[in-house]
Amino acid sequence: MTEKDFIPKKDLVYPPSGKVAWKAPSNIALVKYWGKYPAQIPANPSISFTLDASATRTTVTYEKREQPGKDFSFEFLFEGKPKEDFIPKIEIFFERIIPYLPFLKEFHFTIDSANSFPHSSGIASSASGMAALSLCLLEIEKQANPEMEDLYFQQKASFLARLGSGSACRSIAGNLIQWGETPSISQSSNLYGILYPFDVHQNFTNYHDTILLVHKGKKAVSSTVGHGLMTGHPFAAPRFQQAHENLERLQPIFATGDLESFINVVESEALTLHAMMMTSQPYFILMAANTLEIIQRIWQFRKSTRVPISFTLDAGANVHVLYPEADKERCIQFIQDELVAYCENGHYICDRNGRGAQPMVASK
Ligand code: PMV
Repeated sequence: MTEKDFIPKKDLVYPPSGKVAWKAPSNIALVKYWGKYPAQIPANPSISFTLDASATRTTVTYEKREQPGKDFSFEFLFEGKPKEDFIPKIEIFFERIIPYLPFLKEFHFTIDSANSFPHSSGIASSASGMAALSLCLLEIEKQANPEMEDLYFQQKASFLARLGSGSACRSIAGNLIQWGETPSISQSSNLYGILYPFDVHQNFTNYHDTILLVHKGKKAVSSTVGHGLMTGHPFAAPRFQQAHENLERLQPIFATGDLESFINVVESEALTLHAMMMTSQPYFILMAANTLEIIQRIWQFRKSTRVPISFTLDAGANVHVLYPEADKERCIQFIQDELVAYCENGHYICDRNGRGAQPMVASK
């Protein structure tokens, strides 16, 4: 598939008005995307667990304008209230996707979005938010083109979401999603995420991710700036190469359910992501003292009990504690006894891998 395949071929007839609604989950990368080229092309391949509880619900109401305008016409509501600061982000997104959704200037849209995770929890809503919005807009195209096939719908939704926020392309389908061309996965694409095409042992179904909210405020350095600092980074080339190798290493690990090797890849990826930040110019640190405390305690607990609990990090101080379904009781007990004390106001979110985005019934 190329970009051109996502341009609608024929003149479609859209309904004059309507309402569409989708729920899209967040995702947590196991091999991290860090560094990109223009038009949101990843500098290295990545793979993620799709989450379940952390999700965005978006409803889009659309109505044909009397005259198609020069500008886009939309309102954005967050949890029912107008939210001005999202408008520029959506303008940029619409500008990027209009070649693929040419009806965007013909309608007025009311976008109403809400997150399942607490407001300003430090959990990025860009992945789930951009995925849910992309699905809603593509659903409008589908109403005009009901023959659109499910696989194409998923690929195009992921393609559009990528143009909103790179990792959002991994928030459409479920469980394990890979994004970015890599020699060991022939179907892989820089344009959209794919369902991991190889065997996945049952150890990795229902994998848990308890998100410890160490710091709930805004990040000191945004992902956009962080990605940018990989250009000219002294360790960029070996890091990108390592991501390809880690994806290849994961293949037998996923197939056999080898938790020890899984932990080795995933924790190394998390620390490498932060090592890239610490060695950027300018350098920066997003981990907090409590992030390190939690990591040390996870390591001690794992060593003394041999329970396969591990961690990963996104671009922030929060810690994602990962463990298989079979060990959930012991892990939850340990988290409550030893880790929750390091969370801001004791807050954490119990999540696990899920089935991907789902359509919602759009209320009239
Ligand atoms: O999609 P962005 O631009 O917010 O970047 C996400 C980057 C990481 O979360 C750190 C890694 C990843 O692959 O999700």
